[in-house]
Amino acid sequence: MKKEFIDLGKQPIANRFLNEDELENEFFYNLKMGLDEETLLVSQMETVEASDMFNENYVYHSSGTETMRNHFNSTAERLNLLFSPDRVLEIGSNDGVFIKHFNKDTTVAVEPCSNFAKITNEMGYQTYDEFWNYDTSDKILKEHGKQDLIYAANCMCHIHDIEQAFLSVENVLSDNGVFVFEDPSLMAAYLRNSYDQFYDEHVHLFTITALNNILKKTNLEICGVDQINHIHGGTNRVFVKLKNNKKVSKDENNINTVLADEELLDLNKMIAYEFWAENIQNSKMFLYDLLASLKKRDLKLVSYGATSKSTTIFNYCNIGTDIIDYIVDTTPAKQGKLSPGMHIPVVSYEEGWTEDVRGAFLGAWNYSDFITEKEKAFLGRGGFFITHVPEVDIVTKPTCIPCGANKEVEE
Ligand code: TMP
Repeated sequence: MKKEFIDLGKQPIANRFLNEDELENEFFYNLKMGLDEETLLVSQMETVEASDMFNENYVYHSSGTETMRNHFNSTAERLNLLFSPDRVLEIGSNDGVFIKHFNKDTTVAVEPCSNFAKITNEMGYQTYDEFWNYDTSDKILKEHGKQDLIYAANCMCHIHDIEQAFLSVENVLSDNGVFVFEDPSLMAAYLRNSYDQFYDEHVHLFTITALNNILKKTNLEICGVDQINHIHGGTNRVFVKLKNNKKVSKDENNINTVLADEELLDLNKMIAYEFWAENIQNSKMFLYDLLASLKKRDLKLVSYGATSKSTTIFNYCNIGTDIIDYIVDTTPAKQGKLSPGMHIPVVSYEEGWTEDVRGAFLGAWNYSDFITEKEKAFLGRGGFFITHVPEVDIVTKPTCIPCGANKEVEE
């Protein structure tokens, strides 16, 4: 049974930036998170239909920032070196930022957002414009055989029926193959109080403990975990193989260290989540009070990065245009639109990053080191950033949000 621990109120689709004429019919749902007492999986209590989130209008480009381009380059290089796979499958290939490092003749992709599936099909990678499920895996099995490397970044946590998603991987993974997936780390989110990792797309937020429990119902097992601090605010890269695969070794020490850390934090018990809920409620109060008091002093406040994460913050903390004038974002598809729920205008960096801006909420706090370094001139002329991670604070010099995970992977 799933037990609720936090209610983040009515929330819109986090990545659906709107035109004026779309405001009236905007969709909202109740964002509540709970802990499954059997598997210890943290998931939404009420979910949004996958096709309402992932369709031909999806705007998030995986290659949209230098950090992510570098990350996918180095990941592809590392996986090629480690496994030299003959056949590769990517689940959730977005705009092809990862898949482009692999041979077109031996690589296939699955991507339900047809605007992106079209891009990778045109690049020459056969892309199934479908959701990942058993039927899709069966089709790939029949048409291309078993796959040696299956990769999914920021995709598994989107899939409602997670057990079925793993069984579909099992169906098409070669005997000596490896499945590598990356998703936001619940432990990092907990340690940083980055509750904005909760939004419609993140149906689940994984601990390794929960993944272990779910995989017990399959013939798959975890064989290694990388904790990557600087990607998406703290990411776990999980390596999975078939239980009888003797070619790929299992790093028991590495897995046990992460499991022990999760246990030490009580992430396998409801008490940790009740404690987290209190921290979330306090963070909301502190952030609203800080922003409102800055606004009272007549300072021009904007937000930096129209992120999905900031949709959760603005809607939960009731932060609208009375506090934030607008959001600056480099993504053309978001510019000229209004933010989901609170309807804050999104403008280009060129238009909005003007000398009269005094404070900027770090909507893209996961790039804090990059942004605060890039904006040294803004900080130098008395500008400041406001962050809620790991606690509500004002940032006046270049900074990096402190590490929540205990081991950083060099990239
Ligand atoms: P992400 O956190 O999901 O990767 O989204 C980051 C968003 O922030 C994306 O819309 C691009 C935007 N952004 C900027 O506008 N300026 C920047 O300097 C960075 C790093 C991101």
